[in-house]
Amino acid sequence: MAMERTISIVKPDAVGKNVIGKIYSRFEDAGLKIIAAKMKHLSQKEAEGFYAVHKERPFFKDLVSFMTSGPVMIQVLEGESAVAKNREIMGATNPKEAAAGTIRADFAQSIDENAVHGSDSVENAAIEIAYFFSATEICPRTR
Ligand code: PPS
Repeated sequence: MAMERTISIVKPDAVGKNVIGKIYSRFEDAGLKIIAAKMKHLSQKEAEGFYAVHKERPFFKDLVSFMTSGPVMIQVLEGESAVAKNREIMGATNPKEAAAGTIRADFAQSIDENAVHGSDSVENAAIEIAYFFSATEICPRTR
């Protein structure tokens, strides 16, 4: 299995529920290491740029509005198959379809406020990491 990096974002609904630590425990329990992190209140421009790939979708405006409604916690996770592992821990996009014990099943209410974001491929992870972090903000872990 390959060592990978991925972006995770704890969205405004989950930050508001004060469950950042509980969500971080899920990553650590799965063997993923946090190698960068920052809390940020996204501007409209930053959210629109991050989700530009979805700009033609009907929910784009609502998604940007939600993602700018409060601070988010953004982290780079590193580990074996980190992209797929994080997606597994997150659960399905719609919390109603998310497997029991996943972050979205436990902490999200609806598809439009679904607690976490995770990169969907290694290629997109690299783009998303560069969107939020400079090289000097990433701290590779040797132990
Ligand atoms: S995914 O996770 O990319 O496979 O899912 P996708 O269905 O392509 O959705 C892309 C992002 O849009 C969010 N989303 C929505 N927001 C608001 N309203 C509705 N109806 C809606 N449907 C999907 C979804 O949470 C994804 O956000 P991220 O941050 O990428 O997980």
